[in-house]
Amino acid sequence: GRGVAVVTAVASRLALQRRQLEETLAPFRLHSQQLKAVQAQMRESMVRGLRGESSSIRMLPTYVCAMPDGTERGDFLALDLGGTNFRVLWVKVGSRSEEGIKIINRVFSLPESVTQGTGQQLFDHIVDCIVDFQKENNLSGQTLPLSFTFSFPCKQLGLDQGILLNWTKGFKASDCEGQDVVSLLRAAIRRRQGVELNVVAIVNDTVGTMMSCGYEDPHCEVGLIVGTGTNACYMEELGNVCAVPGDRGRMCINMEWGAFGDDGLALQEFYTPFDLSVDQASINPGKQRCRAREGGARRAGREDSDRRGWARGTSGCGWVGRGADGEGRAEAVANLGCPSYSLSARARYEKLISGMYLGEIVRQVLLHLTHLRVLFGGQEFPSLQTKDIIKTKFLSEIESDLERWQVRAILEKLDLQADCEDALLVREVCQAVSRRAAQLCGAGVAAVVEKIRENRGLDRLSVTVGVDGTLYKLHPHFSEQVKDAVRELAPQCCVRFLLSEDGSGKGAALVSAVACRLAGAAGP
Ligand code: GLC
Repeated sequence: GRGVAVVTAVASRLALQRRQLEETLAPFRLHSQQLKAVQAQMRESMVRGLRGESSSIRMLPTYVCAMPDGTERGDFLALDLGGTNFRVLWVKVGSRSEEGIKIINRVFSLPESVTQGTGQQLFDHIVDCIVDFQKENNLSGQTLPLSFTFSFPCKQLGLDQGILLNWTKGFKASDCEGQDVVSLLRAAIRRRQGVELNVVAIVNDTVGTMMSCGYEDPHCEVGLIVGTGTNACYMEELGNVCAVPGDRGRMCINMEWGAFGDDGLALQEFYTPFDLSVDQASINPGKQRCRAREGGARRAGREDSDRRGWARGTSGCGWVGRGADGEGRAEAVANLGCPSYSLSARARYEKLISGMYLGEIVRQVLLHLTHLRVLFGGQEFPSLQTKDIIKTKFLSEIESDLERWQVRAILEKLDLQADCEDALLVREVCQAVSRRAAQLCGAGVAAVVEKIRENRGLDRLSVTVGVDGTLYKLHPHFSEQVKDAVRELAPQCCVRFLLSEDGSGKGAALVSAVACRLAGAAGP
């Protein structure tokens, strides 16, 4: 009698937990119809951006018009700024069949005082690093052509001229936005007398990625990054690029797709309260550019209370409709108990996809499930209140083919005491969040390759996408899920994904190499 009652009680508690988990994760599970809608919105925003009409995707001309043909030769310098470190590289481009491309590089750390100080400090630091590197490698006195990989949105007016539109990914150095980055670099070179550098090109990391893969595979006409941030570039017909005169040939366009949705016109229905919390806690809510670095107890405290606020509001699960209809969202926002959420309830593609945010989304979901007592027996571990504690690396580990005890060991490292059941649930949460990211990213790639196919009036297109970025490269399932989505959404395109090796170094040098080849061909 009693035994049966206990078993029944446990079974119904488990059933309730399962239902609550399913309800929480439901908005992360996207249907093909929804992905098709994202693809269509992306496509529309691309066209508007190309025409110079208002669009959240900027579609920036890069002045890169030709791919490497294998005849490029020479020695180049490259700089790589845009991630956690700064690199200086010496790239030797030899014949494709024999020497290939050889790289010597050095990584310099980028203290926060430099990324968040003044522009002058930032560029002086860069020149100091270059001078050190030249000395070490006996390059002083040579003025090798230099490519500057600068992975931020720039309005380019030529290959060697790029006005920084806004910082992204946590950079904040003052007096740089609105300035030509190459002029800032040249000014720093002048300040450090006795140094001569020949800046030939400013290159976005997506473009470097496309070029480095283009060296191996002539079909490579798209570059994709899924790492700290996400972005893509591709070869567009010049005739479609209103910002640049001429209608013959093609030009590589830096889409800056991370900002997709910033205008509040797309992606609205995908936003869950968890995404909203992550956005609100970042340094520039409402924008793609967010790297909340200002941690600290004061801030953590404030987030805590916000979180509790909405967790209480949502414990009845009011918001978990599907999120697909406007009403569900409005309710979700209302339940956050904070009116400012609804004002800035705008989606940003980068924040749903890239490595800088996925761990935070997962953390928000785990907090919610703890509050519902679905997870950790309802015990609120202090570490789970810590911003950025769940790194992309952990997601990759948790989702790889591990035994439950191994997952528990990983959680243990984060000071989360999980039982076997918890370990499984945490993995399910990670899977739902990263799968949505991969699918949304796939919808973007599908929009790009379909645009290329239609541009060329082809029934079928074979195209290669050069890819880089830690999330894409290290996550156990992400790349497959991107490919699956592209196969489904762009059935007339046969898309090969090629991993790029050092696009920001090798690829950037190739941009200069191609420019030098073409200048040589044009004759002195
Ligand atoms: C951010 C930058 C973009 C870059 C991407 C990947 O989205 O704005 O320029 O390509 O990150 O690094």
